[in-house]
Amino acid sequence: MEIKAVVSGKLKKGGDDACLVVPVYEKEFPLQSAVLDPAHAAVFKALAARDAVTGKAQATYYLPTPGALCGGVLALGLGKRGACDAETLRRAAGKAVRHFARHRVTKLIFDASAFPEVPVDAFVEGLVLAQYDFDVYRKQPEGKSVPAKVGAVTIIVPDAKKAGNLERQCGLAALIATGVNGARQLANTAANEMTPAALARFAQGIAEQSDCTCTVLDEKKMAKLGMNALLGVARGADNAPKLILLEYRHPKATKTVAVAGKGVCFDSGGISIKPAQNMHEMKFDMCGAAAVLCAMMTIAWLRPKVNVIAVVPAVENKTGSKAQTPGDIVRAYNGKTIEVHNTDAEGRLILADAMAYTVDKYKPDTIVDLATLTGACVVALGHCCAGILGNDDAVIDGLIRAGEATGDRLWKLPLWDDYKKQMEGTHADLCNIGSGRDAGTITAAAFLQHFVGDTPWAHLDIAGVAYGVKGVPHLNPKHATGFGVRLLVKWIMGLA
Ligand code: BES
Ligand code: MN
Ligand code: ZN
Repeated sequence: MEIKAVVSGKLKKGGDDACLVVPVYEKEFPLQSAVLDPAHAAVFKALAARDAVTGKAQATYYLPTPGALCGGVLALGLGKRGACDAETLRRAAGKAVRHFARHRVTKLIFDASAFPEVPVDAFVEGLVLAQYDFDVYRKQPEGKSVPAKVGAVTIIVPDAKKAGNLERQCGLAALIATGVNGARQLANTAANEMTPAALARFAQGIAEQSDCTCTVLDEKKMAKLGMNALLGVARGADNAPKLILLEYRHPKATKTVAVAGKGVCFDSGGISIKPAQNMHEMKFDMCGAAAVLCAMMTIAWLRPKVNVIAVVPAVENKTGSKAQTPGDIVRAYNGKTIEVHNTDAEGRLILADAMAYTVDKYKPDTIVDLATLTGACVVALGHCCAGILGNDDAVIDGLIRAGEATGDRLWKLPLWDDYKKQMEGTHADLCNIGSGRDAGTITAAAFLQHFVGDTPWAHLDIAGVAYGVKGVPHLNPKHATGFGVRLLVKWIMGLA
């Protein structure tokens, strides 16, 4: 996305493939713009008088104005003045994109001259997110041209002194949104292509293009290290598991954080097999991994003064003849033994080894994991936020704040020691499921807690928000959301 900020006097004519975007608060007509033709302003005023344009949040109105400064004018509704925040702008952008596509708009002129308080960077972020489509597999229908996309935004600012700063902010928003789209692409790609080896190749690609280092542990190496919880899950699949480690280091860093992402490239449930309905959605069971890898890609672009270790246990949970069987007992990397009562509770098994290894080898100051871990989290919280649990309130609070700023919202659930006790096994140290269905998200986190030691840790259960989120205009309900990328980038940048 090409971004420029100028004062209205320096503005050039946009042309017919351009659209003038004018923000408007609810019922605050006439439109406030430094460059809008008075005749077009009059049309909007008349429309507003008949309630055809309202300025309500996410309400947009496109007026074709061929031959004028731009080929069209879009009134961008922001709702009540004072109640408008970054998420309002992202969602408004999501709605606006439908008009841009229909009218083949490739350039925008965003008139913020009367709106210095509006977070234009959030509009740019929403724009980049909303224009993403997972279309690599679709044949272009004959006679139909490729859909137009906006590739440039010129922002009109009231004050030339603010232009540079705004350009930088909007450029950053576009860059982070591109990182989010990377995660969406990884997750949308079907499991026949997005295998553990493919995830590892992607991580190696990041390392080649930046000064990150990538290490991939194969089955043999993991067996030597004693990662039998992870290897147990992988036994039912022909595609071999990988443990992907991606390290970003800054010479002036004083802190090291680790981020782990669940990379189950397909979760059939294993021998404790899932019902057929919606099983295809389990290609999304690597959304934690996608978020962590693409957050790292973005971090490598931005170079904050902090060390970051990304760790991705990548496996397929399948039903081959060697598949792990309910009742099996495995010994994890940290020596704890686990009774596997349900092979569908596999995410915690692979994260157990990955996190125990990470805290042992790298001794990070903090570890955060993201995982599509439990259906129970979807029951508890739906699709509006992820669940967050952990052993350190300062870490949890920092992440919640980053979530509020970015739109990747989090809601805290409790994790008292009583839950940790509930995960003890009958024949082994631990069991991989709690008794009954009660508090499934919490018992899963309580299991993980046995593998992070005293390291300050937070666990994000993203099962409800990683894909299939309806009603958010800049996210496609059929696809992965890239949840976690914006959150992690914001949080890590804030630590530096
Ligand atoms: N990947 C699933 C969790 C999931 C379910 C994510 C639905 C997204 C949507 C996970 O591996 C799983 O199967 N969890 C089980 C745990 C249970 C066996 C204790 C679940 O939630 O049913
Ligand atoms: Mn499962
Ligand atoms: Zn799973």
